[in-house]
Amino acid sequence: MTSDLVFRPITGPEELPLFNALPGPYNDRLAEDLHDGHCKADWMWLALRDGRPVARVGWWSRGGDRPDVMETLDVDDTDDDPRRTDTGARLLRAALTAVFPTGTVPAPYVLQPLPGDWRNDTAVERRVRHRTEVVERTGGRMFVERLRYRWTSGTPVPSYRGGLTFREVGGDEEAIGLLARILPGTLDAYSLADVARSSVDYHARVQYHDELLSYPSPRAWWRIGVRPDGEPVGLVVPARSPNGFVIAYLGVVDGRRGRGFVDDLLAEGTRLLAAQGAERVTADTDLGNRPMARAFERAGYDNFAGRIDMCWD
Ligand SMILES: CC(C)(COP(=O)(O)OP(=O)(O)OC[C@H]1O[C@@H](n2cnc3c(N)ncnc32)[C@H](O)[C@@H]1OP(=O)(O)O)[C@@H](O)C(=O)NCCC(=O)NCCS
Repeated sequence: MTSDLVFRPITGPEELPLFNALPGPYNDRLAEDLHDGHCKADWMWLALRDGRPVARVGWWSRGGDRPDVMETLDVDDTDDDPRRTDTGARLLRAALTAVFPTGTVPAPYVLQPLPGDWRNDTAVERRVRHRTEVVERTGGRMFVERLRYRWTSGTPVPSYRGGLTFREVGGDEEAIGLLARILPGTLDAYSLADVARSSVDYHARVQYHDELLSYPSPRAWWRIGVRPDGEPVGLVVPARSPNGFVIAYLGVVDGRRGRGFVDDLLAEGTRLLAAQGAERVTADTDLGNRPMARAFERAGYDNFAGRIDMCWD
């Protein structure tokens, strides 16, 4: 017997219960996102077999007319149907064609939240495999795996070991200049890709204006790490995001790495946020950025979650 498989976007909010028939971390807020314009019905696609959802895909935007991220990609993990990945890939291909005009690059896929040790959990590992395979079958690829770290107020504030003192940022150009000296030799995949697309100086400006200044907390929280001879060697950006306190950025200038300055900067950023009343501070880094990951671990941060970012070039 052949079954009827249909790929289509939902018609509107009235079909959200159908879209949410598959479980997912964002189901609870999709109604609000649709209402506020962060999601659109045209960006929320279903694969229906005999009228029943067997796969779905959805995009989210900060508020523009173009999606910023594909945050939903689900196949029915409870179903042992070997066609599952094939169905997911066919759905995603149809949706990508409809949502992204020919010649444009689709928004990246972010698979989260994942537990920190997701590879050791067979069920989660299987869910991850199903989704990454679907993306790969449409021409997407792994971009980076990120580790999410968390410090909680019961943990002692990390200790200093590099002998730095700290001061506030003097002005825009000083901060941009420091960012430009931190970027060379970075192990961060997003920074590497941004620099490859433009230049160190251009990306330092974009990072400063569009990313770091966009946090609602003041620049007065940022700290420059200074050696006893007065040389500035690093920057930490403790911040408050809509989701809580974060270490938004931390870096040591190229040529001054390997002396433990990272520990002082992280200690200072954490101390400053704790003094602001933070009971929890989160920070992310790439799986491949071992110096940063090790620094979080030395400082008592816990790898509580992970995420996978995939892209279409
Ligand atoms: C991650 C970072 C802050 C680490 O700072 P650090 O003060 O050099 O760290 P450590 O002193 O603990 O260095 C530990 C080891 O890693 C090595 N290392 C540090 N950064 C490195 C890099 N980018 N590439 C290769 N090796 C690096 C050090 O040389 C040292 O090696 P050693 O133990 O053999 O001497 C620094 O690499 C950096 O600023 N990177 C660019 C910005 C960045 O990635 N920030 C994190 C964003 S989430």
